[in-house]
Amino acid sequence: MKRLLLFLGGWLVISAWGNEPILPLPDPRPLSEAARLGERLFHDPRLSGSGRISCATCHRLDEGGDDGLPLPTVQNGSHPHNTPTVFNAAFNYRLHWYGDLTSLEQQARAALQRDMQVDWQKTLLRLKADTGYRKVFDNLFGGLTADSVVAALVAFENTLITPDAPLDRYLRGDTAALTPQQQRGYALFKAHGCSACHQGINVGGNLLQQLGVFGRYRSGDPGRIAVTGRKEDRNVFRVPSLRNVAVTAPYFHDGRVKTLKKAVELMAQYQLGIRMKAGEIDAIVAFLNSLTGRYHSRPIGKRQ
Ligand code: HEC
Ligand code: HEC
Repeated sequence: MKRLLLFLGGWLVISAWGNEPILPLPDPRPLSEAARLGERLFHDPRLSGSGRISCATCHRLDEGGDDGLPLPTVQNGSHPHNTPTVFNAAFNYRLHWYGDLTSLEQQARAALQRDMQVDWQKTLLRLKADTGYRKVFDNLFGGLTADSVVAALVAFENTLITPDAPLDRYLRGDTAALTPQQQRGYALFKAHGCSACHQGINVGGNLLQQLGVFGRYRSGDPGRIAVTGRKEDRNVFRVPSLRNVAVTAPYFHDGRVKTLKKAVELMAQYQLGIRMKAGEIDAIVAFLNSLTGRYHSRPIGKRQ
């Protein structure tokens, strides 16, 4: 039922924007005081149990909002999943590769526990020892607590929006914003049905789908069944957002795909059951490069 509602919701949004399956991103609002506080916390390793890891260790805002690694390595032991970007995560209805979380609040708590092994007692004492922090927390939230730390982080994450990608300018009527090859790539993206799953404002991020609709996907990771225990969730993953995808290699939930070209080729095989011609793959890759937006007025990401 939920999936049907999501589908209908997506369809309504799409119909409201002419016939395009993708909507342009809005500009972020100026930072509120809470968001400014959240920005400091996002970069502050004192939040972690070890005192050495911050959100920004894995989500680098000077790059693609991720860590550029197949799997994060800074944590004790290894993590089974590739780090997704935090940019535009506020527009994902489903969070994490299993799509098991649905709000940034839930996610920030999970990240602090799992990725940063927070010891709240220690962390709150450390932060309270900083009079700068204490004053701002008192003014804004009436105190420095786990809840107010999470609220400030979320306020900041809501500003991590990367507008003004060439595709957004194109959707707003600037037809010269995409090269002819990118326009062809966009047409193929729609015609082949990529946009059945990767659509909406984030070009993904709101649906759960089987990986390997055409049965070619094999891996050690069973997908969402790992958290729900339901048979129908085997090999089901959250459809990732493709915004800024050109600067967030490597790809897939386990980070095993190094290039965008390979990712597109595998998607065509796994999800659509087709083998795409090299020229078509190149055009779609060119189109995906038009999804790179700006943060602080500069195109994001150094890699690629
Ligand atoms: C050790 C590296 C690491 C650290 C530190 C870390 N993250 Fe993450 N983050 C990840 C990984 C890996 C995932 C994907 C988890 C999954 O799907 O199982 C993720 C997922 C996310 C997502 C969901 C994105 C999406 O579209 O699904 C958000 C938002 C996020 N992290 C924010 C944060 C915040 C805020 C902090 C600090 C409180 C933080 N992260 C700390 C590695 C990290
Ligand atoms: C049936 C739904 C579906 C269709 C159709 C589909 N995808 Fe995907 N796509 C997914 C899912 C699910 C993943 C996540 C894969 C994983 O977790 O390993 C994904 C991942 C990706 C990624 C990697 C993103 C990242 O950050 O790791 C790219 C690029 C991509 N798709 C592009 C495409 C293109 C191009 C097409 C059309 C040729 C397409 N997809 C068609 C569901 C779909």
